[in-house]
Formats: sequence, C-alpha cells, structure tokens
Amino acid sequence: MELNIILLPGDGVGPEVVSAAVDVLEAAGDRFGFQLKTREYKIGGCAIDEFGTALPDETRDACQRSDAVLLGAVGGPKWDDPRAAVRPEQGLLGLRKELGLFANLRPVRSMPDLTGASPIRPDKLEGVDLVVVRELTGGIYFGKPRERTSVNGEIQAVDTMLYSESEIRRVAHLAFGLARERRKALTSVDKANVLECSRLWREVVAQVALAYPDVTLENHLVDAAAMYLINQPASYDVILTGNMFGDILTDEASMLAGSMGLLPSASLGDARNAFGFPLGMYEPIHGSAPDIAGKNIANPVGTILSAAMMLRLSFGLEAEARAVESAVEQAITDGVRTVDIAEGNESVSSTTEFAQFVIRNIGST
Ligand code: IPM
Ligand code: MG
Repeated sequence: MELNIILLPGDGVGPEVVSAAVDVLEAAGDRFGFQLKTREYKIGGCAIDEFGTALPDETRDACQRSDAVLLGAVGGPKWDDPRAAVRPEQGLLGLRKELGLFANLRPVRSMPDLTGASPIRPDKLEGVDLVVVRELTGGIYFGKPRERTSVNGEIQAVDTMLYSESEIRRVAHLAFGLARERRKALTSVDKANVLECSRLWREVVAQVALAYPDVTLENHLVDAAAMYLINQPASYDVILTGNMFGDILTDEASMLAGSMGLLPSASLGDARNAFGFPLGMYEPIHGSAPDIAGKNIANPVGTILSAAMMLRLSFGLEAEARAVESAVEQAITDGVRTVDIAEGNESVSSTTEFAQFVIRNIGST
C-alpha cells in the first residue's frame, strides 16, 4: 500500500513539526508494511515570498490529486501588515475551500499524566474526552460582502456571517454520525438569542437530529459553552458549531489538554481519494509560533496525532493509527516532555527527541 501524501510544512514551527510527524509515519510504515510517497509544496508566507501568492496553483493541484494532506502552520510577523494585499492565512482558507473540507474535527482529551500542565483543576479534567466538529468553509470566514467602504468620509468595514441550510445540514450529519459512534451526546453551539444565522443553524440541526433518535441533542449558547468548557468539560461528547465559534472554542479547549501543541485536527469533505476514503487535510490546531521557530523545541504531538488521524480516516488504517497514538501516550507516561508541557524540574526534550521516543514505542505498546 502506497500513501500519496502532500506535505505543506508552511511557516514558523510548521516545518519542524511536520518533519517529526513524517519520521513517525515512516517508522509506522516500516513496522506495519505501508509506504509513503510524499511531496512537499509551499503554502502561506513562504509561498508569498516565492510566488507572490499564499496558495500557488501547483500546491492546490497537487493536493487535489493526493490521497491526503499534512500541513504544519502558516503565518508570521513578516507578513502581518494589516494593509498587505496578500496574507498567509488566505492560503489555508483557500485550500480548505478548494478541497471542499467543510468539517473540521478537533478531538480534545485530558491525559492523567498531563493534568499538571493544564491551568484547570485536575478534578475538572477527569474524563474529558470530547470532539469539536467545526464547520470550516462557511460562516463569517467566507460570507460576502466582506470589504471596506467609505460612508460620509468615514471608513467602515463589514464581514458577513452567512450559512445556507445545506451547509449546516451536511456538517450536522457528519457530527451526528460521529456522536453515534461515541457517547451519543451532541451539543450544538450557537448564538441563537442574537443571530439570525444561529436561529437557522438551530432549526436545521433539530431537523437532522430526527434521523439520529439514539443521539441526544442539546443546544448551548456560545457564551455559556465557553464557561461550561472550563467548569464541566467532561460533560461534553460531540460539540457541533460554526466556523468562528469553533476556532475560538478549540483554542480554549486546548487548555484542557494542557497545551496548544497537543491538539490534532482533521478536515474532511465529500472528496474521496484513491482508496475510497475522504481526501482529508490534517493539521495541528496551533499556529506558526514564530517566537520559538527554528529552535527545535516545538511540541510535535498535535502534528503526530494529526498524522494518526490521517491513517485512520483517509486510509482506513485503524490499528496503525492506534499504534501511533499509543506510542505518543507511552512517551508521555514515560515522562518525555517538550518545554510547553514540562513542569518544575522535569527534563525537557527537543522536537526531534520527542519524535524519536515515539518511534521507539511504535508497535511495542
Ligand atoms: C485555525 C487557525 C486558522 C483559522 C487561521 C490560521 C486562519 O486559527 O485553524 O484554528 O482561524 O481557522
Ligand atoms: Mg484557530
């Protein structure tokens, strides 16, 4: 079995964490008998520097022809001028849209060995195992109009939060399907007391729920959900929400796990790869972390776990995915720590050292 994977290391710590995850994938391939065929393309700031655009055509085309995409991160201070015509983030958003990746899965778990790395009280963290399903190609990230205008000599700016029934319905089906395979509890998060978009969201989600009578549906307003995520996080199973709320809530939820660097994600749509599985894009939820880039200290766990999700969801390699996840858990149980999750006088491993510990554990756990 040959897995045709496009690597998009991107900016900042992206190349370091992607390279760590590829080393782990290659070790898993040696152990389990699959081959990787990887090719690397530019996206984000590094693409702007070379091609003048954050999403070069050749990058998009290669991704469309691949089985799966592994991405690091995009962005950095070099390209941060608010008046710039091209921005690194356009590359990521453009690729999500072009590949039709409307659902972004962000699992969050608290590991007993890492409760000390979280700012939340350990008793609250017990049993935290949730997944946020974030709508990824609609909402205020993509709605039009989106522009600056001048009214009576004053500049105004507008962004548009827009959702159609079909956009809500397809991501809701995916989330209910996922809930069915988990603890069968879905919480839809919106701001239906204020936003028309959210009222439509709630209506469509309730219709979709009828097809999943075994799954319980609750609706939470986003402000309350932000609070419950801290004071009763273990009560959540699947959280379904729109693009912007999902972006915000998952950074918050990463504090349950202990660090932004720990959380993986999978972005899926209707496109299928050569194996008949979803052509997905897999990326850690963290950003390019320019302050620590190039120092070999970034936490590779989010990217390694994203690669595990890729094995499971884009290739159907469940045992292989489990082996990678267990190898990461074993490394953490053994006390291997990158600087972001190290406590007190725990010794600190580099990005590459952490990956080596994981590789050593593959297939032995
Ligand atoms: C994320 C990131 C992106 C987003 C940025 C980099 C555009 O924050 O994947 O969570 O907002 O979607
Ligand atoms: Mg984000």
